[in-house]
Amino acid sequence: MKLLHLQVACAENRVIGRGGRLPWSIPEDFQFFQAQTAGQTVVLGRVCFDTWPRATCDGRQPVVVTSRPLAPRPRRADGPAESTPLTAGSLAAALAIAEGRPGEIHLCGGERIYAEALALDRPLRLHLTLVHATVPGDTWFPEWRHLAWRELDRRASADANHRYTFFTLERP
Ligand SMILES: NC(=O)c1ccc[n+]([C@@H]2O[C@H](COP(=O)([O-])OP(=O)(O)OC[C@H]3O[C@@H](n4cnc5c(N)ncnc54)[C@H](OP(=O)(O)O)[C@@H]3O)[C@@H](O)[C@H]2O)c1
Repeated sequence: MKLLHLQVACAENRVIGRGGRLPWSIPEDFQFFQAQTAGQTVVLGRVCFDTWPRATCDGRQPVVVTSRPLAPRPRRADGPAESTPLTAGSLAAALAIAEGRPGEIHLCGGERIYAEALALDRPLRLHLTLVHATVPGDTWFPEWRHLAWRELDRRASADANHRYTFFTLERP
């Protein structure tokens, strides 16, 4: 069974989203996400898939968790038509698909996928960008601080608008 990677950027008040979008624009975090997930299988909810920038899907194999067929996306003028992503009706079904694919499995939200992942009885590596701010929002990362994490790495950084810390945490 593969190690599960969780990718999340979360404010101090656990907010991760607002109105179907990220509540911030942090280029360094976006680049970090791109580097972490390049060429890997990414498992994500339907809203995430519908609203993510196209560039986020390039070079990644998405498995979209949804109860309904996905609407086809219009062809990009500057590139080939996107292949229809794999879909699954539950996180368990998505993980079964992802296990059978080469490479790593990265769980990329949203809220319910994170909550179900943290409740799984299997090893997790949490790639957490903690944004040092309290921001309004409508989507949250579950409380994680009380869980028994081993800290593998941390790196503080900032841009003109935000201070943030990249944490790598692992749970056996
Ligand atoms: N900061 C971050 O790192 C981060 C990461 C991810 C998302 N976000 C933000 O979070 C928001 C989107 O997240 P969200 O929680 O609202 O939506 P979401 O998880 O992307 O999508 C919700 C939909 O996905 C399906 N779904 C999700 N989990 C499921 C499960 N366990 N079993 C079955 N179906 C499931 C359902 O689709 P159907 O209705 O089609 O059945 C559900 O309505 C956006 O604002 C986004 O920007 C932020």
